[in-house]
Amino acid sequence: MHSIFTFLILLSLTTSITHACFTAKWHIFVTNDINDDIVAHIKSGDDDLGNHTIPFNGNYNWSFCNRFDGRTLFYAYFWWGSRYQSLDLFNSDIEDICAVKILGTQNCYWLVRSNGFFVSAYNRTFSDRDWKLKKTWNY
Ligand SMILES: *[C@@H]1O[C@H](CO)[C@@H](O)[C@H](O)[C@H]1NC(C)=O
Ligand SMILES: *[C@@H]1O[C@H](CO)[C@@H](O)[C@H](O)[C@H]1NC(C)=O
Ligand SMILES: *[C@@H]1O[C@H](CO)[C@@H](O)[C@H](O)[C@H]1NC(C)=O
Repeated sequence: MHSIFTFLILLSLTTSITHACFTAKWHIFVTNDINDDIVAHIKSGDDDLGNHTIPFNGNYNWSFCNRFDGRTLFYAYFWWGSRYQSLDLFNSDIEDICAVKILGTQNCYWLVRSNGFFVSAYNRTFSDRDWKLKKTWNY
């Protein structure tokens, strides 16, 4: 047992020095497809990424290492004028949608549209077939 712990400590030191991940590394992109500014406040249990204004066609993106137990959760609050919504941007359900690679950084794309919040493993041109609707805006 002792050598396993030593190994894990050395491994986590090495990964933190190189900024690599022992678990899967994820990169999340939130693109605003509304012809107006939106504000996104993204958080996890450990991190508060703060408020970000995303202009039309702009994106906010960040990356992280998945937790060892695979239970990483990022959630967000969105404002668009008088409209508001909160939703998970990364959880095990979204991980299943976006986990398409065997090696390397996994990407997950969110598209915020007037008709709702869509997710995809690929940054394709919008279509209902390629993007999965997860929530609509609250009025
Ligand atoms: C983030 O932006 C929203 C909408 O503009 C605002 O209501 C909220 O107070 C802001 N939060 C912070 C911490 O600035
Ligand atoms: C990700 O965000 C950075 C700013 O944090 C920006 O420079 C970069 O262009 C964004 N990535 C993409 C693919 O737009
Ligand atoms: C998605 O693709 C479009 C069109 O190629 C590009 O303009 C945009 O920057 C891409 N977004 C991200 C987040 O990579």
